[in-house]
Amino acid sequence: MVDDDQESDRLIAPERAAEDVGETSLRPQTLDDFTGQKTVRRNLKVFIEAARGRGEALDHVLLFGPPGLGKTTLAQIVARELGVNFRATSGPVIARAGDLAALLTNLGPRDVLFIDEIHRLNPAVEEVLYPAMEDFQLDLIIGEGPSARSIRIDLPPFTLVAATTRSGLITTPLRERFGIPLRLEFYDAEELTGIVRRGARLLDFDLAEDGAHEIARRARGTPRVAGRLLRRVRDFAAVAGAGRVDARTADAALTRLDIDSRGLDAMDRRYLACIAENYGGGPVGAETLGAALGEQRDVIEEVIEPYLMQQGLIQRTPRGRMLSSSGWRYLGLTPSAVAAAQLELLPDGDDDNLPGAPAEGPDG
Ligand SMILES: Nc1ncnc2c1ncn2[C@@H]1O[C@H](COP(=O)(O)OP(=O)(O)O)[C@@H](O)[C@H]1O
Ligand SMILES: [Mg+2]
Repeated sequence: MVDDDQESDRLIAPERAAEDVGETSLRPQTLDDFTGQKTVRRNLKVFIEAARGRGEALDHVLLFGPPGLGKTTLAQIVARELGVNFRATSGPVIARAGDLAALLTNLGPRDVLFIDEIHRLNPAVEEVLYPAMEDFQLDLIIGEGPSARSIRIDLPPFTLVAATTRSGLITTPLRERFGIPLRLEFYDAEELTGIVRRGARLLDFDLAEDGAHEIARRARGTPRVAGRLLRRVRDFAAVAGAGRVDARTADAALTRLDIDSRGLDAMDRRYLACIAENYGGGPVGAETLGAALGEQRDVIEEVIEPYLMQQGLIQRTPRGRMLSSSGWRYLGLTPSAVAAAQLELLPDGDDDNLPGAPAEGPDG
């Protein structure tokens, strides 16, 4: 299985849900069972069918998007629908070219190799990956100094499925070797309601329609969060001896968990308050914010910010993050004259692709 690093107690933490390991897994097993991401699903279906029909390996797939949206799930589904083996690893785990060679030479024809966090691949390993992806050939240097020689190994055609939360950190040559790049988006309330309903059914949990809707609405657009909230609400309901769980019971449980009506948790609110109170609404860099909040920069950028940005509560500018007008409103605060003037100068709406924004690329 895939190792996720950052361990944390936060409900929206990026690590693999502990729930996925022991208890009933909520992971969809087939493309039809996978809710939402319509375009991604439709495209994958066509490409998988075509590859199967030709008896060829599927083209390499790059999945990108914030944590918890279904990248690992989709990678597994791709292998299952192709009817091939699934091998999983992650970027930081493949330390040396030899590690990659060992993985690749153990693949069967048309197998899927899943590399999570591909943006954290060692550059020396990445170099070896290029010819493997392109020509199914492995060029290795054996030995050192004058006796070193290079050998070439033929590989079976395989499919690399790679996932990243930070598409902006992937080098261009690597990106260009993926025939099927797919971007996952946050889920809307209706899709999440479907996911919550399905989860409740699998967990044998008596959840009313408005209860499902309440959980979905507060799940940060993220199936992983929806699954966790669902389990926590179920715990509260069980202890409270509630029968069928409706919106009121769900709301009480979620409020106890410190998830507000908009789905933001204590960390999200600390983040917003920090920009407002310590930095006058910004702009402030991710590094500085991370230090102030005692969080790693990666967590700030990959976990916290994408959703706040999608919600329009913050904006990314060339000089750092700024609280937007709705961010100020959310906190119940009035921006200072300076902050208000700065906001006036910003283009409207979601601006994570500002020209000249930090070298980040089209990241969530
Ligand atoms: N489209 C979906 N429908 C239902 N459940 C989903 C969907 N996408 C993800 N999940 C659930 O959310 C959890 C996180 O998904 P995962 O694939 O691990 O996300 P990622 O790899 O993008 O971080 C999984 O346990 C899975 O059960
Ligand atoms: Mg994953």
